[in-house]
Amino acid sequence: MAKKNESAFDRLLKKLTKATPIEQESSVKLDHDFDGIQELNNPLPPWWTAGFIITIIISVFYIFYYTVQGNDSQYDEFKREMAKAKTQVDAYKKAHNIVDANTVTLLTDKKALAEGKEIFLKNCAACHVADGGGLVGPNLTDNAWIYGCDIKDVFKVITNGTSKGMPPWKALGADKVQKVASYVLSLQGTKPAKPKAPQGKPCNKS
Ligand code: HEC
Repeated sequence: MAKKNESAFDRLLKKLTKATPIEQESSVKLDHDFDGIQELNNPLPPWWTAGFIITIIISVFYIFYYTVQGNDSQYDEFKREMAKAKTQVDAYKKAHNIVDANTVTLLTDKKALAEGKEIFLKNCAACHVADGGGLVGPNLTDNAWIYGCDIKDVFKVITNGTSKGMPPWKALGADKVQKVASYVLSLQGTKPAKPKAPQGKPCNKS
């Protein structure tokens, strides 16, 4: 019953929904009447039925893919991709000397220590004094350590700071923190002009 002034879009909509025109609604009206609320028996819209059938067809492929072929589930896939990404990140970190609290190593080459010294004089000397003797912050040259004397401990303290006055230096970047931490440890046993009294426990690392 195409009407003359109906556009192609209107006709398509009609095909996809199969909705009964309002003037013919009485033909699909069910004889329910709940306090004046009535029900129409419209057919399922063809667009919806088609979508439903397509999902059923697709599900057959998925069942085949996962059970017969035994492919990884999304969860396994996720785990595999994450493991792959981790090895890539580790390789990248290694190649670019990006360290974290678990992989940091003590640097001993002159260039790194010289850079560490520069960072120390710029950021740390105000509280720890240029020669590391200590003022607001503890003496960094003696054998006494509050948070431990391993490079990993020192790296962690400098990165995260403490609740008792040591600011966090994460913003310097792991590379610089590693250098300044290595420099701090290179001060061990040096003789500052005005050493602050030891704080913490003696370091019993050989
Ligand atoms: C605002 C002052 C201040 C600045 C700046 C500062 N520190 Fe500290 N630092 C402290 C204080 C105070 C402590 C002791 C914190 C505590 O007891 O929790 C400390 C502790 C430390 C410790 C731990 C010592 C131990 O015995 O375990 C290290 C290592 C250290 N600072 C290194 C640095 C480095 C490296 C810098 C520069 C990047 C720096 N600090 C900058 C005040 C400062």
